[in-house]
Amino acid sequence: NWTMENFIDTEIKRIRTLVGPTAEVIGAVSGGVDSTVAAKLMTEAIGDRFHAIMVDNGVLRLNEAENVKKNLVAGLGINLTVVDASDEFLDKLKGVTDPEKKRKIIGNTFIHVFEREADKIKPKDGTEIEFLLQGTLYPDVIESISFKGPSQTIKTHHNVGGLLENMKLKLIEPLRELFKDEVRHLGELLGIPHDLVWRHPFPGPGIAIRVLGEVTREQVAIARKADYIYIEEIRKAGLYGQISQAFACLLPVKSVGVMGDQRTYDQVIALRAIETTDFMTADWFPFPHEFLKKVAARIVNEVDGVARVTYDITSKPPATVEWE
Ligand code: XMP
Repeated sequence: NWTMENFIDTEIKRIRTLVGPTAEVIGAVSGGVDSTVAAKLMTEAIGDRFHAIMVDNGVLRLNEAENVKKNLVAGLGINLTVVDASDEFLDKLKGVTDPEKKRKIIGNTFIHVFEREADKIKPKDGTEIEFLLQGTLYPDVIESISFKGPSQTIKTHHNVGGLLENMKLKLIEPLRELFKDEVRHLGELLGIPHDLVWRHPFPGPGIAIRVLGEVTREQVAIARKADYIYIEEIRKAGLYGQISQAFACLLPVKSVGVMGDQRTYDQVIALRAIETTDFMTADWFPFPHEFLKKVAARIVNEVDGVARVTYDITSKPPATVEWE
């Protein structure tokens, strides 16, 4: 009979047979649930012969690289290398304002950095890395073989598909028969912390598509702080689990405000929170007014460069979840 416990045993055996006694495997981790569950399963199967690589692209959430390192290395025993490539990404993003260009630059730079890092991980006996781990889920498999969903045709989603062709690696996809809720269940059985298992999705191009207009270190820092405060308040209010995805966007417009007896002229943060089952359609989340009031006050008071906060009350369609 099919149970998740049996799935773990079967999958670990299958991985060991497939990889054999000596070959090595690499895989990218993002800090999200799918790649973490896949990495943990691989670590259970072959230990340190699995090499996880996390690329810090400079547009991750506040303290994200450190947190992932702590969770995955100290917490889960995963053999992880974190690569700080933020300068490289931010340099390439200079002067770019078009959302699709941002996605392409980030996707291509990611592949480049990942390949370079993978090259540095040479197994001791001089053999090559043979396999690439991917946290592909069943819905991704269906989508890529049958049709392109609306969000795919509207926005180019960043993924690591290009890695395979260049690197001549064989693919391992232990989650390819599972749905998201099953991956979460699997994650809990593998001892992955609850908050990580139930984390909202985060797009590959990260904060670059949440800083509208040009992406600079300064703009990313503002968007990051606002987002951090927003998510912290959502958690404190006990609302995180009711929301499918929430984040802050930094708009490239200036607005007049007043702080004390000083006139201010600074940027605008837009908050987004949605409820959805499939991300193809979504409704905005009906926060209590008191909650919005508190978050707006905190963001304007605590984040330099922000004069005003708005809440996005547009459904998908006609809007998309992300602003870019
Ligand atoms: P949209 O904005 O298309 O978002 O309504 C639907 C879901 O997809 C995520 N999203 C992305 N994820 N790379 C990703 O990995 C992308 O380029 C990208 N664009 C949107 C978005 O966060 C939401 O969960």
